[in-house]
Amino acid sequence: MSIFLSQRARRVRLSPIAAAGQRANALAGQGRDIVALTAGEPEFDTPEAIKEAAVAALARGETKYTPTAGTAALRRAIAARYGRDHGIALTPADVIVANGGKQVIFEAFAATLDSGDEVLLPAPYWPSFPDIVRVNDGTPVILSCDERSGFKLDAARLEAAITPRTRWLVLNTPANPTGAVYRERELAALAEVLRRHPHVLVLVDEIYEQIRFGAAAPHWLNIAPDLRGRTLVVNGASKTYAMTGWRIGWGIAPAELVQAMTAIQSQVSSGASAIGQAAVAAALDAADQTFVQQGRLAYARRAELVSKTIPSIPGLRLLPPQGAFFAYVNCGGLIGHVRPDGRPIESDADLVDWLLEAEGVAVVDGAAYGLSPYFRLSFAVADAVLEDALQRIARAVAALQPAQAEVMA
Ligand SMILES: Cc1ncc(COP(=O)(O)O)c(C=O)c1O
Repeated sequence: MSIFLSQRARRVRLSPIAAAGQRANALAGQGRDIVALTAGEPEFDTPEAIKEAAVAALARGETKYTPTAGTAALRRAIAARYGRDHGIALTPADVIVANGGKQVIFEAFAATLDSGDEVLLPAPYWPSFPDIVRVNDGTPVILSCDERSGFKLDAARLEAAITPRTRWLVLNTPANPTGAVYRERELAALAEVLRRHPHVLVLVDEIYEQIRFGAAAPHWLNIAPDLRGRTLVVNGASKTYAMTGWRIGWGIAPAELVQAMTAIQSQVSSGASAIGQAAVAAALDAADQTFVQQGRLAYARRAELVSKTIPSIPGLRLLPPQGAFFAYVNCGGLIGHVRPDGRPIESDADLVDWLLEAEGVAVVDGAAYGLSPYFRLSFAVADAVLEDALQRIARAVAALQPAQAEVMA
């Protein structure tokens, strides 16, 4: 037991996704032939025009501290983008820019949670949510939403879960890790419940907003404009513009929350990088959004490939993703199967180990996302890499034997 770590530090874990990625890298470093489908980031490079905007900002001498809540140019560009895309009227004061959407979420919880406050988290969830809640003294309340509900929370579940201690509901659409996308009527039903509980805030994480394969649902702020006073929208440049390393995300929130988050950010990191903000402002303001459209088409094509191939592998099942770049594969049909070395597959983590050991495919087990038995694979990889990975998964699964009882039955 450490003598110097706080209770707070003991409540957080290193990201399980990063851990899975590191394991794959370590094996690759030993010369193993590894296909990693672990990372939640586009494999594309940041578009040239965005890089050029960053270089131009450097040339202009934009190398100083920036206003804590974000540069005027970027906050204006974000507000204008929501006006153009969704007809939502925002002013720069409604917007806070941070070092990634993750920091926005952290600051929002830091600004609003007291010890024991509850945060409703539909599972499967992005693993950072419960940890960010815990590190800020809150209590994650996990609401399991399996395939039968399309991995989505419904109004009755929400109503039943709300207590006087509930502070937030977290919605992530399109979702990591399932690719589920909430439809208009589903969001409207959830809004109806929230109207009856004015003490509950709602965090709408739309970081994968631009990566969806069907028609877009109307924006939450258009479905429930009356809830704007207690809504935090989280978005950023990481996924849309392949800018994960630039660390620029933003939140749209009521003035009181923006101010409290800004005060916290002023003592954590100050304003985000000047160069990064200039680059993202240029990305949002550009008339040419071809990169975003091409990305959407590429991910849609891969989603289709995965959705076609996975169900053809005996023992695996998949609810086709409708957005983002993840598939959340049900592997319940393989639990109880036996590896050629006689070891049983008792959990999704065992299967994930087997895929890595047998065929060098790295994916992340469902336990990390709060719903088993599943594994998440990222299809933010080149088509050829994905095709190879799917063949490897099929081979690894084919090498498993059904349990003896099943063979005899
Ligand atoms: C659901 C979800 N929200 C937020 C983020 C944060 O992204 P960033 O901090 O790069 O903006 C991620 C990144 O993986 C994510 O998957």
